[in-house]
Amino acid sequence: MKLIEAKDYQGMSRKAANIISAQVILFPRSVLGLATGSTPLGIYRQLVDWYEKGDVDFGEIHSVNLDEYCGLSPENPQSYRYYMNQNFFGHVNIKPENTAVPNGMAEDFETECKKYDRHIAELGGIDLQLLGVGETGHIGFNEPDQSFDKMTHRAALREETIQANSRFFQSMEEVPRYALTMGIKAIMQAKKILLVVSGANKADILEKALFGPVTPGIPASILQLHPDVTVVADQDAMSAV
Ligand code: GLP
Repeated sequence: MKLIEAKDYQGMSRKAANIISAQVILFPRSVLGLATGSTPLGIYRQLVDWYEKGDVDFGEIHSVNLDEYCGLSPENPQSYRYYMNQNFFGHVNIKPENTAVPNGMAEDFETECKKYDRHIAELGGIDLQLLGVGETGHIGFNEPDQSFDKMTHRAALREETIQANSRFFQSMEEVPRYALTMGIKAIMQAKKILLVVSGANKADILEKALFGPVTPGIPASILQLHPDVTVVADQDAMSAV
């Protein structure tokens, strides 16, 4: 595992964006695994900026997103599809048909999840997976104490996660209780993983995830067993390490 410390959020975003753009420049047909949440926003901004300057080209890139809320349509501003369109896809030359986000409106979630795994397999797997971490240690929506053995599936959100994510919604009641998420097994199949962490509220969980025991109680701890992980964290997030 490679650990890179950045001074602040902006530094973290820039260093992480550098790693993603290096992947895109060296391997223009890469499959990028993408993530949502507040943490990657600065990375997307930086990538859009470099794209506008002509430094990076997403024309042959494929992307697959980690997760999506159940019951939210792509037009719903809280959906992860909407987030991706607004913050990234709509500003670069990635082909819309080359982007994939699980369909949270699917009638049959089991079929949708199998289809999603098949799609990733047909693309030849994920070359670089971007990840954030939730305060419970979740990655994607893989909450504590779920098995490490899952591919894409429907997951129930923990109360703490509903609480943490309610900041994006008008009320707690509006936060979906379920999501479709790539499972830990699916995430671990990515060839490279880039974990980004920012802020003092993530310091404890980052220390546990990187240096504590590998346990389903801290889903992100599984990353210790992946052969190619880079962690980019700012000073605040690193303060307990
Ligand atoms: C959500 C997402 C995760 C993300 C986490 C942390 O629950 N499903 O993929 O890592 O939030 O988000 P933030 O970066 O906003 O702290």
